[in-house]
Amino acid sequence: MAIAYMEKEKLFWIDTKNTSYVIGIVDKEQFVGHVYYGKRMQRQDIFYLMRTGEAPFVPSKNNRERSAFLDSLPMEYAGDGLGDYRESSISVKTKGGHAGVSLAFGSYEIKKGKPRLNGLPATFYREEDMRGEGANEECMTLILHCRDEALELDIDLLYTAFEQEDVITRSVTVRNTGKNELFLTKVFSASLDLDNQDFEMVTLHGSWARERQVEYREIGYGKQSVGSLRGVSSHQEHPFLALKEKNAGEDTGSVYAMHFVYSGNFLAQAERTQHNMIRMTMGIHPKNFSWRLGTSEEFCTPEAILTYSSAGMGQMTRNLHDMYRNHLIRGKYKDKKRPVLINNWEATYFDFDTERLLDIAKRAAGLGIEMLVMDDGWFGHRNSDNSSLGDWQVNEEKIIGGLKHLVDEVNALGMRFGIWFEPEMVSPDSKLYRKHPDWAIKIPGREPALSRNQYVLDFSRSDVREYVYESVAQILHGANIEYVKWDMNRQLSDLGSAFLSPECQGELSHRYVLGLYELQERLIQEFPDLLLENCSGGGARFDPGMLYYSPQIWCSDDTDAIERLKIQEGTAMIYPLSAIGAHVSDCPNHTVGRSTPFETRGIVALAGTFGYELDITKISEEEQQMIPKQIEVYHKYNDLIRRGDYYRIASYSANHEYDCYMVVSKDKREALMTYIQVLGEPNRRSRRICLKGLKPEYNYRINGKDRVYGGDVLMSGGILIESRKGDFKGEIFYLNAQESVIKDKKLDKKNDKNIK
Ligand code: GLA
Repeated sequence: MAIAYMEKEKLFWIDTKNTSYVIGIVDKEQFVGHVYYGKRMQRQDIFYLMRTGEAPFVPSKNNRERSAFLDSLPMEYAGDGLGDYRESSISVKTKGGHAGVSLAFGSYEIKKGKPRLNGLPATFYREEDMRGEGANEECMTLILHCRDEALELDIDLLYTAFEQEDVITRSVTVRNTGKNELFLTKVFSASLDLDNQDFEMVTLHGSWARERQVEYREIGYGKQSVGSLRGVSSHQEHPFLALKEKNAGEDTGSVYAMHFVYSGNFLAQAERTQHNMIRMTMGIHPKNFSWRLGTSEEFCTPEAILTYSSAGMGQMTRNLHDMYRNHLIRGKYKDKKRPVLINNWEATYFDFDTERLLDIAKRAAGLGIEMLVMDDGWFGHRNSDNSSLGDWQVNEEKIIGGLKHLVDEVNALGMRFGIWFEPEMVSPDSKLYRKHPDWAIKIPGREPALSRNQYVLDFSRSDVREYVYESVAQILHGANIEYVKWDMNRQLSDLGSAFLSPECQGELSHRYVLGLYELQERLIQEFPDLLLENCSGGGARFDPGMLYYSPQIWCSDDTDAIERLKIQEGTAMIYPLSAIGAHVSDCPNHTVGRSTPFETRGIVALAGTFGYELDITKISEEEQQMIPKQIEVYHKYNDLIRRGDYYRIASYSANHEYDCYMVVSKDKREALMTYIQVLGEPNRRSRRICLKGLKPEYNYRINGKDRVYGGDVLMSGGILIESRKGDFKGEIFYLNAQESVIKDKKLDKKNDKNIK
């Protein structure tokens, strides 16, 4: 059993394939303590690891010198205001204005599968069976029913173990069982107290066109955090936090990671305490958050994904990739090759009409591109970014003959059709805003801040959500539309809702996110064949919450191949390549002005969903002729790229010279390595690259050449990559294990029972 209660020892023991997580109940007060998380161990009495008998640094002996005891006990979910001065996990305000929360363990449940989290995106064992019935012991849930008697508040701590992926998910449900209203002012999803093992913090930071750059930093005493108060998880900071041993690298050392399945404000924090412990926390950002909890009402937090790797950052990456591919991404395209698309944004911006789009489509179809996506500018009277959001009616002055005509023409070329929306927004210059100015988020008496000339719609209102949904759905019903790019081009500010009562204004940001989830769920239920790609000013919509609705997310408006190396490295550190929206665009690049070879742009875009974002009628004949070859390469390798194990070999952000990663099939028979030489230096000898993830006993042929190399030779000896003249040169290496070796029974018996 993956989860067990050891009654005598008062330990809850959760195992995954390679990790153990242990919780202890501290007698008398029934505190829920954290005992251990790390490498898998045999089940024994390890209660002593909580050090409950050790005196903290207080004048008295530790005969439950209560506040000092609470302040040093490793906790599973920390109460508030009663003596633990570290970051609390929950804060509650009573009608009397008091704070103070303490959790006492009451009872527990251990069950197969995983309960759903109402209204929230969450991982599941199997998609066809979201409640998890029939799940075997590969997915089990522990629920600790806790209670604060003084508040009459039930607090359930949920843990689900995903055995194969070495992941434990956590979430919390609180329930008001008393007669008095309570106000939650903080409800985190997870808290983890660890002995400091000379940890460094790993986070992802960025900006528009510079998303998800990896940052490593020392953890000093006190609190250090990343977070978002922008209403989306943001370009700037990402709902992810890892603690890695300082000398842990890509392939060695301990790493603890937390990733948040949520798309709004968050706080991810590491706090180093007086006793050199680290409290790691993840949850909805408490600033501007409050939630009224009436009698019998419940609040359910989004979930946090936890994984531990004893084999460096690379194993953490592969755990998360498997987790998201197997247990978070849903729908028809979950494990399908995506159509190669061409998007007209960087080709035309707002300046297009039916004829222009059909010109692009005709040329694209002839070169093997499979879908045309019509981006921003097809509705209302939108010819720039200063109008019409909210008026989702086709502009027939541009889309001459109507949308159905355009789509039919595109279909007649053998291509599919996709469309752009920005459903959460309203332009001041729109029929919608003129009719319903109170539908925008704003504070009464204060002029709301414009951003990209637009306001944010109040998605906490069901009438707003209904209008938006119907607007999108009627367009989708009107023509054969097979893809939607759901964009969101500004962040929230001026938080105020004309719908919520004064005491509930603090609920707006979370209700906004819940409203967004409701709409996307409705959309994919009504249009199950639709391919949905989320987007926010480039890559600000990347978070595990959005992956539950869309199997792919636009990674960045920066489509420059070299900048993308850094952005895609950070993104792929925690997301599978199948989810990363990546296109070949024109040069000089519109964002950074750099020119890179067309071939290199194609290789870089392979590490994602693959497509084009350029005016195909204007690029050179030579570049056009390279497109069929690139598409052939995409089709040939995409199954491997989508499903394989990802290994980072070299980081351009760290070495400033070259980028290299590999994808290896699960059975280790195939692998693909891409290598980008960013800087060509004079008189440089070849570079020795040691491959990863191969089977040492197999012999591999590289790029179909005559000679074969042992997996061990490739991993320990490596290959030599010649320096090429010039900058930005890309190469692909395809390796396949040779049949003669695989069929060698002697090797098979010893090394791999599955191979016949
Ligand atoms: C955002 C997206 C772009 C494009 C524009 C349209 O910036 O990231 O790809 O769709 O909006 O306005």
